[in-house]
Amino acid sequence: MAAIQQEPSAAPTTANAPADAVVDPHAKSTDDGTRNGSQADEKTRSESALFTPLSISNGRIELAHRIIMAPMTRNRGVPLYLTRPNRAWAHDELGALYYGQRATPGGLIITEGIYPTVEASASPCVPGLFDDKQVPGWTAVVNAVHGKGGYIFAQLWHAGRTCLPHFTGKPAMSSSSTPLDGDQEARYPPPDDDSGSPGTGQRVKLRDFPPQEMTYSDIKRTIDAYVSTAKRAMDQCGFDGIEIHGGNGYLLEQFLSTNVNKRTDEYGGTIEGYCRFPVELMTALADAIGGENVAIRLSPFGLFNQSYGEQRPEIWSYLCRALKQKISNMSYIHFIEPRFEQIIDTTSKDSYLKSLGGNISIKPFQEIMGSTPFVVSGGYNDTNIWGVIESGNADAISIGRYFTSNPDLVARLREGKELRKYDRDRFYWIDEPRERGYTDFEPFS
Ligand SMILES: Cc1cc2nc3c(=O)[nH]c(=O)nc-3n(C[C@H](O)[C@H](O)[C@H](O)COP(=O)(O)O)c2cc1C
Repeated sequence: MAAIQQEPSAAPTTANAPADAVVDPHAKSTDDGTRNGSQADEKTRSESALFTPLSISNGRIELAHRIIMAPMTRNRGVPLYLTRPNRAWAHDELGALYYGQRATPGGLIITEGIYPTVEASASPCVPGLFDDKQVPGWTAVVNAVHGKGGYIFAQLWHAGRTCLPHFTGKPAMSSSSTPLDGDQEARYPPPDDDSGSPGTGQRVKLRDFPPQEMTYSDIKRTIDAYVSTAKRAMDQCGFDGIEIHGGNGYLLEQFLSTNVNKRTDEYGGTIEGYCRFPVELMTALADAIGGENVAIRLSPFGLFNQSYGEQRPEIWSYLCRALKQKISNMSYIHFIEPRFEQIIDTTSKDSYLKSLGGNISIKPFQEIMGSTPFVVSGGYNDTNIWGVIESGNADAISIGRYFTSNPDLVARLREGKELRKYDRDRFYWIDEPRERGYTDFEPFS
């Protein structure tokens, strides 16, 4: 079956860049799989704080080590319905195999972004959790991870203005009706493709599908959808917690970004206003499932999906202070490093961020969060991961790409084994077989 949904060799501009779940988000990132520097010696590894316990979820969960699997959309779900258009996908046994392969005793895995409502959807074959029929697939994933003594959080993701009517059946929604600029394309098929697979490769320009500004009832409905999906995840699937995707230019960041959020009501206009929707969402989730069971991921210095907002240190500091004050027992907070970028090269990113002025560092957010466990992500590998915990700059490190090609990543790091380079062309499902580049990486012997 022909199944094309991303640009494996996307140019380092936003021109070919649809949502990060479907484009190659790392075409020009800080780490292309070639590692500079040397691996750690045995003493460094055996004494590393990476392999010491960490308490999260306000003491409810004791992790045995501090290497976390980062959330990664892999587009390997199967269509939930035979009727067309199908707008929902679920995991089959392949998902359980994939996550189980990567689980470790006392280790934490964060799932791929999961849609809490069909309205949140931006790409095919992403297993959602808005329908009870999606529960068995996710329950099998959870059981596979728990079976190996691991923990697993569900990441909930709403794509906001990068959603397409092809998937949602209605116009996209965002903080404001600000369309994506330029030629940013999504290579999305119509979901009535017979196979329900990633499809035919039809290309559309996101600017041709501008979002509508969310009304108060849209905001309430969206928060309710997150809450009911979080309850389904905890009560029916047995997840250990929920991480909200608040980064990478998706819905929450579209509220936080001044170039997207043009509202003049209480959900925009001021620093408090930009933060209101994320804070209300997190508070509603904490009320529903317990503050210790919720976490959030943020990318205050990300540019992905045209996040070109200003006042970043001020806005994200306010957000952290509000979260800390309202959910003092939050499970953890997860930051993407400023140096990490998905589409443009680091030099261009640095000069852009410098042009904004202010302090380009996530350290101030860590200081605001105090005792809330601080997880960092972006560009870590077997040469630069050592000493980070000891430096006090993080409590845990999440790794994405190397987990795709090294299911036994934790053991490899601990034992100083070579890391296998990841297969960028298979990050997202392009062609059969689904297993290739997903579950067919052998552990080292
Ligand atoms: C294939 C792929 C899919 C991704 N999907 C998500 C996602 O669903 N949610 C999210 O927050 N980040 C997503 N990311 C970003 C990763 O979680 C991570 O932040 C990024 O890869 C940087 O970490 P690394 O250098 O260790 O790969 C994705 C990255 C990749 C490579």
